Amino acid sequence: MEKKIRNLIDIRDLSTKEIDDLIEVANDIINHKEKYSHKCDGKILATLFFEPSTRTRLSFESAMLRLGGKVLGFSEASSSSTAKGETLADTVCVVSGYADIIAMRHPKEGAPMVAASKSMVPIINAGDGGHNHPTQTLTDLLTIKREKKSFNNLTIGLCGDLKFGRTIHSLIAAMSRYDNIKFVLISPDELKLPDYIINEVLEKNNISYVETDNMMEYMNELDILYMTRVQKERFFNEEDYLRLKDYYILDKNKLINAKKDLCIMHPLPRVNEISPEVDNDERAKYFEQAYNGVYIRMALILKLLEVK
Ligand code: NCD
Repeated sequence: MEKKIRNLIDIRDLSTKEIDDLIEVANDIINHKEKYSHKCDGKILATLFFEPSTRTRLSFESAMLRLGGKVLGFSEASSSSTAKGETLADTVCVVSGYADIIAMRHPKEGAPMVAASKSMVPIINAGDGGHNHPTQTLTDLLTIKREKKSFNNLTIGLCGDLKFGRTIHSLIAAMSRYDNIKFVLISPDELKLPDYIINEVLEKNNISYVETDNMMEYMNELDILYMTRVQKERFFNEEDYLRLKDYYILDKNKLINAKKDLCIMHPLPRVNEISPEVDNDERAKYFEQAYNGVYIRMALILKLLEVK
């Protein structure tokens, strides 16, 4: 019988136990980097990025290189045969013969699922349109675990573009599996969390949440404040984007009454939504979050390639 290939398309493809194990491995990698430097000798990761990226693509590549493997790929659709009219299905079918594992980012929601159906090797969703971004969520979970020690009993403020922000969608799906989680959903009316997530994730699992457009309303209750960029590339007209892009700007003043152990997160890139003066605040964890991305992706590659 043919072996079943494990993909990561949605964060819920991983059980909570598997997430705990990945975090444990990532922490072990952080403490004993040399132990892992030849685990993927002879293996190849392909990065197929049909949309811009800095952190996700480079942290995947860094992860594979730090494991002793090699990388190949492209960072824009225009430099691949997509520009000649090749379908995603054909591209993936071919590349899966060139690599042992594929990380892909695509502007279309659901594209990684199509890719997985055509691939002979594991597919990792590195962001599909305004839908999901499971490996950013793994990065976020590692950061939360390192900062808060537990995933339970947290009040989590999610601020900015909750409509198109795929990191938000995956993070809600992940955190909804833990105990006593409360979400504070902070967005302008036009960028509210989509109904399908409210109904199928929050309501269905009886998760406590409030919606507000005022970032100060619950500031003093938050354990985590997760800021996001307004997703310019998903807007149909520029006027709407310009009107909404600076709706929230976190600065020092806004943090005066926040908890002393608040954890301020952002998947990056930031535009204006966090003033650089916040970077020196001990509670700002977004650069740690970006560094953590490499280690959790190393752990994920090891898991999907079934390297012991
Ligand atoms: C995020 C993304 O691509 O969705 N970036 C990332 O992967 N760190 C967030 C964003 O682009 O705003």
